[in-house]
Amino acid sequence: MKISKRSDISPFIVMDVMAAAAAREAAGERVLHLEVGQPATPAPRAVLAAAEQALREDRIGYTVALGIPELRERLAHYYQTQYGVCISPERIVVTTGSSAGFLLSFLAHFDAGDRVAICDPGYPAYRNILKVLNLEPVLIPCRAESDFRLTVPQIAQAAKDGGLDGLLIASPANPTGAMLSPDELRAIADYCATQNITLISDEIYHGISYGKAAQTALAVSDDAVVINSFSKYFSMTGWRLGWMVVPQAALRAVERIAQNLFISPPTLSQLAAVAAFDCEAELQENVAVYARNRGLLLRELPKAGIDRFAPPDGAFYLYADVSRFTDDSVRFCQDMLLQTGVAATPGTDFDVVEGHKFVRFSFAGATEVMAEAAKRLAGWLPDST
Ligand SMILES: Cc1ncc(COP(=O)(O)O)c(C=O)c1O
Repeated sequence: MKISKRSDISPFIVMDVMAAAAAREAAGERVLHLEVGQPATPAPRAVLAAAEQALREDRIGYTVALGIPELRERLAHYYQTQYGVCISPERIVVTTGSSAGFLLSFLAHFDAGDRVAICDPGYPAYRNILKVLNLEPVLIPCRAESDFRLTVPQIAQAAKDGGLDGLLIASPANPTGAMLSPDELRAIADYCATQNITLISDEIYHGISYGKAAQTALAVSDDAVVINSFSKYFSMTGWRLGWMVVPQAALRAVERIAQNLFISPPTLSQLAAVAAFDCEAELQENVAVYARNRGLLLRELPKAGIDRFAPPDGAFYLYADVSRFTDDSVRFCQDMLLQTGVAATPGTDFDVVEGHKFVRFSFAGATEVMAEAAKRLAGWLPDST
């Protein structure tokens, strides 16, 4: 049987860690989950209530491909209140998670063989979705020495070495939690505009930051494609709902592709998500938990010998350099799971070049889980105190 060459992409290593963790749990052991990048909290209460009501009253049929008008209007309003940016609801496209947003934006803006730059380390699906679509991921090294930040000279260098059709940025970023300042974001957007590079901004971790709020690319460019999701800040991973803000000129292309690939995003999730914007207090409580967890790990991990990391500006990840202990982060994570019951993700998922030196700890879970993980890691590594 023929299997396509395009399907020859890397699996998600974090899934292997999750499978190993599940096996230990099946054997009756308690595993502390610091590997998964999803909130431990359910969807906000008002969203659950709206979903129940919709199940009782609605037919849950298809919707229009771009999403229900009520949700697109709420999202447009959200840009006004959150960022002071005026966006027409027309430009908002509701998607099946941000994952579908990547697919739609890549298909609408690029042709086979086009080159799209991404940060290395970065969210692994970026390069894998690009590859599966026969696009060329151009990896820009964003190393620990420069706080994992992307700069215009680095993008210019990548463009000089073969041209760029697109640039995908994320701020806050996964796995590093690094954020771009508004000035850095503007410089990148201006550079892309002058060079005719399509700028795609993954803003999925907006709302989760530990100092300044993240700026949307829409504040500095009308041509940026913005991708976002209900998965993280809104604590709705399994509802598979996200959105894009699309430049006017690309709207019809995105609509045609969305109609054919998906028909419509999940209806129940759309109806329920309208209520998510009335849940600010509850969602801020979740962010306060992440902030507490972050503080706990910043304080306790160094005591366990894991002391080489940049404090994350946003998201709920801490990306630690463990090269003092290993040059094989996959093995390191296997041993850590086996010997302490703490599950974390090897950096090889995020960085093909240097990931073998790094481990990502997710602090999206309960504070009690973080405290217990820190306790178990204390004394595990050779020079912990
Ligand atoms: C940076 C980033 N973008 C996108 C996604 C995909 O999220 P979803 O498809 O649930 O919106 C994730 C998931 O972890 C992520 O970390």
